[in-house]
Amino acid sequence: MALDPMLDQITLRQPDDWHVHLRDGAMLQAVVGSTARVFRRAIVMPNLRPPITTVEAAEAYRKRILSALPDGIPFTPLMTAYLTEDFASDVLERGYREDVFTAAKFYPAHATTNSAAGVSDLRAINGLLETMERIGMPLLVHGEETDSDVDIFDREAFFIERHLVPLMNRYPHLRVVMEHITTQEAVQFVETGGANLAATITPHHLHINRNAMFSGGFRSDFYCLPVAKRERHRLALRRAVTGGQPCFFLGTDSAPHSRAAKESACGCAGIFNAPHALESYAEVFEQEGVLDRLEAFASEYGPAFYGLPLNNTSITLIRRAQVVPAIFEGQIDAGSFEYLVPFHAGEMLGWTVSLDQ
Ligand code: DOR
Ligand code: ZN
Repeated sequence: MALDPMLDQITLRQPDDWHVHLRDGAMLQAVVGSTARVFRRAIVMPNLRPPITTVEAAEAYRKRILSALPDGIPFTPLMTAYLTEDFASDVLERGYREDVFTAAKFYPAHATTNSAAGVSDLRAINGLLETMERIGMPLLVHGEETDSDVDIFDREAFFIERHLVPLMNRYPHLRVVMEHITTQEAVQFVETGGANLAATITPHHLHINRNAMFSGGFRSDFYCLPVAKRERHRLALRRAVTGGQPCFFLGTDSAPHSRAAKESACGCAGIFNAPHALESYAEVFEQEGVLDRLEAFASEYGPAFYGLPLNNTSITLIRRAQVVPAIFEGQIDAGSFEYLVPFHAGEMLGWTVSLDQ
């Protein structure tokens, strides 16, 4: 990583996004460029309608992503399988061996967007977990308890205690990524785990605490799952990403929903941060005085965990302030409420990705 002596630009190995929602159809078309213009690869979440539960569906989705890319952008979508209780182990293994599935995503049923087909009882997928442990296929976990008696702000911590600790005891060699962690408990769990346990951390959970959702009224733009937590958790996440530990790496969880969908009677969870994700992380690393650690978090620890080569391309961030537009330029369709509000809308960010490499 080249740090300019005046620190007015940083060139780093091109990063990857280890957790993104690219959607499908018109939404895919509108958002994929934002990810692909900065990230060389991305782990693509499978929670479509219907979810990606076959090798063929993942291959077809990969092709749709590639054909939605703006001309000439090199970008590799890494596909994931959506685990259901009747997913067959041999299908999962074939998809992994044929390089279609990079990993498999575990959603507890009803935990989040399009998770109804997820897993209600972890014991029902023992066979799949055994297979994954044997072949070295990573399990990507949405770690939230869904029992309605458990307070929404405690769901991640409960999930770790009730489900993740026993699961990792049963499958000690299973490679596990706790996705989008939001709590001090998760930070501690992951940093004291073995080399087969890691976590992704989003930009929004580094910038906002739960107050953001209620500041001056109900602010659906800041509603995502797992929901943002108290300030002490945000600070623990900031310490985790800036601490230079390889078990924490970049995963934006960029999850676009139109303004109309976010503001409906049952507003959707998800924050669309793809357009300024790298700048958003850079801001955090700078505020914490460790810009020199951004590259490892963004571009090295992820591939190392997944056993993939590092990218050999680079990207430059320039210290040039920009105001994030109130509305994302890429239109979903002509409808007046069918637009996306990006994370940091209307705010000033201190860094800008240079597009003339
Ligand atoms: O906020 C979220 N949005 N969390 C998730 O787990 C899913 C995602 C989505 O797909 O919209
Ligand atoms: Zn997600």
